Amino acid sequence: MKTILFICLLAAVFADPRATFLSRIVNGQEAEPNEFPWQVSLQYWSEANLRYSHICGAVVLNETHILTAAHCVEHDPTVSKYDIVAGEHNLNIQSGNEQHRRLSVITMHDEYTSSGGYNNDIAVLTLSSNLMLSPTIVEKATLPEESTQTFTGKTCQISGWGRTVANEALPDVLQKANTSVITHSDCRGRLGITGLLYLNRVSASHLYIFWNQFSL
Ligand SMILES: *[C@@H]1O[C@H](CO)[C@@H](O)[C@H](O)[C@H]1NC(C)=O
Ligand SMILES: *[C@@H]1O[C@H](CO)[C@@H](O)[C@H](O)[C@H]1NC(C)=O
Repeated sequence: MKTILFICLLAAVFADPRATFLSRIVNGQEAEPNEFPWQVSLQYWSEANLRYSHICGAVVLNETHILTAAHCVEHDPTVSKYDIVAGEHNLNIQSGNEQHRRLSVITMHDEYTSSGGYNNDIAVLTLSSNLMLSPTIVEKATLPEESTQTFTGKTCQISGWGRTVANEALPDVLQKANTSVITHSDCRGRLGITGLLYLNRVSASHLYIFWNQFSL
C-alpha cells in the first residue's frame, strides 16, 4: 500500500519546489470547493513572510493522522514549524471550511532515501488535536485494500496545488486532472532521453501516472 500511493501522491498532490520533476498539474482544471474532501495542505513556517505557506499536499487518513511524502518533511523534523489545513480550497481565501491543526509527531518511512530516487517517500503525520470529519468537507481518503494492486490502465484523478505551468507560481485554487496509470517500463519508455537523466529516480516501487504525454 505504501509504495502504491507514493508517486500518485508525489506527482499529484505535492507542490514542493524541491520536487520540481514531479509536482505539476498541467492541463488540469480548478476543482470544485471541497471536491476532494481528503485533500490537505501541508504548510511550513516562512521566516521571510512571517506566516505558514503551502509546501506539499497530504491526505486525511483519519481524525488524528495524515499522509504526505517524506521529502516534504525531511529537511526539518521540528513539528512546531508545520501547520496543516483540511477543508482548504483557495489558499488565499477563508471559506470557513478550513480546519487548521498542528503536528505532534512526524514519522517518515524507515527506509526512505532521498538519494537514488526517493524510494519509500512517505510519511505519516500525527496531529496534536483531532480533525472534525464532516461529509463532503473533510473526509478520510480510501486506501487500496490490497498492497499488491498496481492500478495499471486505470484512470486516476489527481489533485493538488502544484504548478500548472513549468516554473510559474503555485496556483491558489486546488487543481485537478484525469490521468492514467502506466507500468514501470512504459514510464521509462515514455521518458525517452529525459528518462536517462532520471534513471535513478524511476524505481520499480513507484506508481506511474501520465497525462497524455510527458510534459515538464
Ligand atoms: C489513524 O491512522 C493511523 C495511521 O494509519 C493509525 O495508526 C491509527 O490507529 C488510526 N486511528 C484511528 C482512530 O483509527
Ligand atoms: C475525470 O474522470 C471522472 C471520473 O471518471 C469524470 O467524472 C470526469 O468527467 C473526468 N473529467 C474530465 C475533465 O475528463
